[in-house]
Amino acid sequence: MDTPATGSAAPSRGTGNLTYGILAGVAIVGVIFAFSGSAVMPNNWYALFKAVHVLGAVIWVGGGVSIMIHAIRGQRAYKPEDIVTVAKQAAFMGEKVFAPVGLITFLMGIAMMLNTSWGWGHFWIVAGLIGYASTFIVGIAILSPMAKKIDESAEKNGPTHPETMALIERIMLIARFDVAVLMLVVLDMVTKPFA
Ligand code: HEM
Repeated sequence: MDTPATGSAAPSRGTGNLTYGILAGVAIVGVIFAFSGSAVMPNNWYALFKAVHVLGAVIWVGGGVSIMIHAIRGQRAYKPEDIVTVAKQAAFMGEKVFAPVGLITFLMGIAMMLNTSWGWGHFWIVAGLIGYASTFIVGIAILSPMAKKIDESAEKNGPTHPETMALIERIMLIARFDVAVLMLVVLDMVTKPFA
């Protein structure tokens, strides 16, 4: 028989509405900023695309780093249960947040390029495209299925089972490189080297 949860507050509809309200406020201010006319932007649309591009990059890269920190903490403290929880959260974030936000970041990058006459031949643009492609492929083809495998193995064998642990070791290694690639793309975009 199901026992009703006691002592935990059910999420109220008001909280969700407040979140959407705050996000709408941020979006409105962003649009006002973008269309206020800037001395350093090629045009207003470019400013809007860039604002969305950079916000997307912040959410994507920041989210990835945050998950990585939690996973490393769990690994250092030797708490496999914690790492399995992080792996579950990473699988959710990867599919529901990073994949769509990464796609929007990429599309905004393309939209900016179409609003300038810089041309595509610069090192920093090519490196951004390669970085995006590599992290997109690694996320969809390796990290996401592997996080699901960890979840399944933890359910079936337990979080401390050698098979689960081996999968965790492997995903952590790949994810570390993936986050490093994302950070390199940010450095590349900010410094625009070998221009
Ligand atoms: C992993 C994917 C990417 C990340 C994390 C990322 C991140 C960033 C960041 C942080 C900036 C701000 C730099 C600054 O203002 O100094 C930026 C700017 C920019 N990015 Fe990206 N980017 C990514 C992919 C791309 C792609 C694929 C393209 C285009 C093909 C692109 C085109 C641009 C352009 C045109 C700017 C504006 C440069 C400027 O106005 O100075 N980005 N990006």
